[in-house]
Amino acid sequence: MAGSMKAQNPHVPSEAESKRGEAIYWDRKALARAVEGRIPLEADIRRARQARPISPGQEAIDPRMCEILDGKYRARFIDCASERKGGRVLDIGCGPGWLALELGRKGLIVDAYDLSSEAIAVARRMLEENPARDGFGQVNYYVHDVTEIDLGRERYDAVLGWSAFHHLPNLSQFMDRVWLALKPGGIVATLDDLPQGWLEQGIQRFFSMLLPSYHRTYRQKLILVLRRLLKLDKTDPLEGLSPMEGHSTQEISPLLYSKFEVLKDVHFNAFATQPLLVLKGPDAFRYVVARALVRLDRLLCQTGVCSGFYRMIIARKTVHG
Ligand SMILES: C[S@@+](CC[C@H](N)C(=O)[O-])C[C@H]1O[C@@H](n2cnc3c(N)ncnc32)[C@H](O)[C@@H]1O
Repeated sequence: MAGSMKAQNPHVPSEAESKRGEAIYWDRKALARAVEGRIPLEADIRRARQARPISPGQEAIDPRMCEILDGKYRARFIDCASERKGGRVLDIGCGPGWLALELGRKGLIVDAYDLSSEAIAVARRMLEENPARDGFGQVNYYVHDVTEIDLGRERYDAVLGWSAFHHLPNLSQFMDRVWLALKPGGIVATLDDLPQGWLEQGIQRFFSMLLPSYHRTYRQKLILVLRRLLKLDKTDPLEGLSPMEGHSTQEISPLLYSKFEVLKDVHFNAFATQPLLVLKGPDAFRYVVARALVRLDRLLCQTGVCSGFYRMIIARKTVHG
């Protein structure tokens, strides 16, 4: 009886509980990624070094693979924030700080916020160790909920969030505050994951099955496929998502289109990311396969056959917006 009552009234976490869970989730990720003194890509894209997973499930670090997958979009993000020399930029949900660090290296003044104290600890360490000090601007890291700080009025030349806006609640209110915080002509740039369609998921599964991976042998993959066919696979589709992730993904683009002048709106990587991030084999093989798969992915996205898993939008605050 008690069990059935519980099933009918499952505990729905409050926003405060979800945010605490979010901080813990990203604390754990930051510790796992930086294990044994590793420098993950999320901490410093220039100093990250290739590393294979130590244990099953651990992420590989592969700067060259990430350059193939999304290097051109990262560069675009950094460039759009650097329009004004010595400008002031807000990095929301900065994580271990790769973006804030790159912006500092462009001579910008950056305020970077994250809920995770461990991610900020890694970011501060990277800032201290940063060897590229010539012309460096300034990076200020804060462990704080970015939705609860005073963003000020016309304080920033750019507000950026790389895989961060879709973790925020009450996005419409937050975007109003971003609009006020931006100087006239200032830039807002977002990169967020979108729900994956059945076609994209099918193609991703096909390549994950076909290509060798760090995480599963071909025998384990075959068993997984059979379990899926027999509907025995009970993997939660939300597994792997952080507690605050996903609820506002679909709200971002209408908000940007209604409040700002959109300069760039691009979908990319519909299915290539997952199989490539765990791709096993000699580097020459891996990078040839990666370039081919990314090219196919871009072609299918550009022709509208597939819809990208990531969406990057760059928009400007117009004077009369
Ligand atoms: C997917 S991670 C992206 C991190 C980083 N931008 C990167 O590119 O590696 C999302 C980050 O947003 C942070 N976050 C979520 N909600 C937040 C909030 N309300 N205030 C500040 N940071 C938040 C999380 O702690 C996490 O580090």
